[in-house]
Amino acid sequence: MASNKGKSMKELIFATQNKNKVNEIALIVPENTNVISLLDLGYEKELDEDFETLEENSLQKAKFVFDLFGKNCFSEDTGLEIDALGGAPGVYSARYAGEEKDMQKNMDKVLLQLGDSKDRKARFKTVITYVTSEEIIQFVGLLEGEIGKEKKGINGFGYDPIFYLPNGQALAEINKEEKSKISHRGIAFKKLISHLKK
Ligand code: IMP
Repeated sequence: MASNKGKSMKELIFATQNKNKVNEIALIVPENTNVISLLDLGYEKELDEDFETLEENSLQKAKFVFDLFGKNCFSEDTGLEIDALGGAPGVYSARYAGEEKDMQKNMDKVLLQLGDSKDRKARFKTVITYVTSEEIIQFVGLLEGEIGKEKKGINGFGYDPIFYLPNGQALAEINKEEKSKISHRGIAFKKLISHLKK
């Protein structure tokens, strides 16, 4: 994702090694901003997420990466909140069905737990934390939808095949350009970009 587009470029480190997240953000990065991921920097160690809220984990990752590289950076943490499951899997979304972070198993667990439940309301929540030497600020993005009864679509990643939009399409059925326009991560990222423009 890194590219050299000239002198007035803003450089930002995206504290992630997740290629899917990098690709989604790449689609909505303004011309004058160069987003560099941890993959571009050759940093492969998994970042710690020691806390029980998206806000704290997002902050932990951004501060760690800022301290390591000394450059303006942002991190994000995302969770799927399902009303009928009391907000689960939430901050535990990646490891919902076990430490191996197997997304098929995570989705199967959600489908099994919801069963035939009529209340299938859910949302993705992303918390972006932006850290510089002058400020630490967070931006939240939400995408409302519901958990379908089956997996649909082959695009995207994570829980996309079971997360249905209000029009009945699964997130995994839309392409990444459409997803980044409407997604939790896209919304939070656009808030960060408007903050940077101020
Ligand atoms: P994390 O932010 O990488 O810790 O993500 C937590 C969990 O949510 C992981 O299992 C991801 O696969 C999943 N996840 C994060 N973003 C999305 C998304 O945009 N769609 C579907 N699943 C996601």
